[in-house]
Amino acid sequence: QTCHLIGAPVDCGKARRGCVMGPDAFRVAGLDLALKDLGHEVEDWGNLTPQTGPEVLSSNPAVHGLTETIGWSAAIREAGHAAVKKGTPVFLGGDHAISLGSVAGIADYAQEVGRPLFLLWLDAHTDIHTLNTTTTGNLHGTPVAYAMGLDGFEGFAPMPKVPGAHICYIGLRSVDPEERKAVAEHGPKAIDMRYIDEHGIAKPLGDFLRKVAAMNGLLHVSLDVDFLDPSIAPAVGTTVPGGATIREAHLAMEMICDSGLMTSLDLVELNPFLDDRGRTAEVMVDLTASLFGRRVFDRDTVRI
Ligand code: ARG
Ligand code: MN
Ligand code: MN
Ligand code: MN
Repeated sequence: QTCHLIGAPVDCGKARRGCVMGPDAFRVAGLDLALKDLGHEVEDWGNLTPQTGPEVLSSNPAVHGLTETIGWSAAIREAGHAAVKKGTPVFLGGDHAISLGSVAGIADYAQEVGRPLFLLWLDAHTDIHTLNTTTTGNLHGTPVAYAMGLDGFEGFAPMPKVPGAHICYIGLRSVDPEERKAVAEHGPKAIDMRYIDEHGIAKPLGDFLRKVAAMNGLLHVSLDVDFLDPSIAPAVGTTVPGGATIREAHLAMEMICDSGLMTSLDLVELNPFLDDRGRTAEVMVDLTASLFGRRVFDRDTVRI
């Protein structure tokens, strides 16, 4: 397949700066070579720039970076829509606000081809605030609510809705009170770290992938660096202890790859300014390689 790398150096979705360097850190860590080694074609679209538009103010005074985020969303949405017609878009963030655009672009395509879109959100956080419920005002905490079509996104272009039943979180361990209500009410499947401790990551992920396959869905995977435990992935502004291990994360990537279902991918929240000799960028590239087919052995070679 052809992987389309789309740089989205969005840094306005929260206060702490640094994700602007994310796309280049993925490139320096060798993302394109890793994909080419696996036999894929790679097209690097370079880094996008935000569209410009009228200033938009939110009635919630905590919200910041709104006009800029809307401009980025429009640019990312267009690029994503164009890329998914040709191959597999890989959106290089940038903070998680990039998904306000990436998911919308894929949803536009899903609507055109008449297939349902599913979201797999690998994250410590639910990112299901609206502009009205966010207390930090950080828009990287909102893309799931926007994708679901919840009210409170004045200024953003409307997008085809992704129903809660088509969304699965894995890795949750930091959820705000308003977000807890939204999850309960709108019904995304919410796999928290306790569930993974009790049952492992394979069972809930396998269940979700089977559902996507049964409905002939498109699958957008959104991988936030903070899905991972900070001990293996320190380069993120919102570290939360107790995240996925390297083994859980690779298993998840391999299962997604084996399913053949993934049609687009976000790599988000990498803050190279906080990294330790590039090791988080390298872990993210290794995980992406597993997602695109890197294996120790094919399963039928491993005889027990
Ligand atoms: N829920 C918190 C907030 O609204 C944290 C969001 C973290 N999101 C992220 N994409 N890292 O600020
Ligand atoms: Mn379009
Ligand atoms: Mn996130
Ligand atoms: Mn997160």
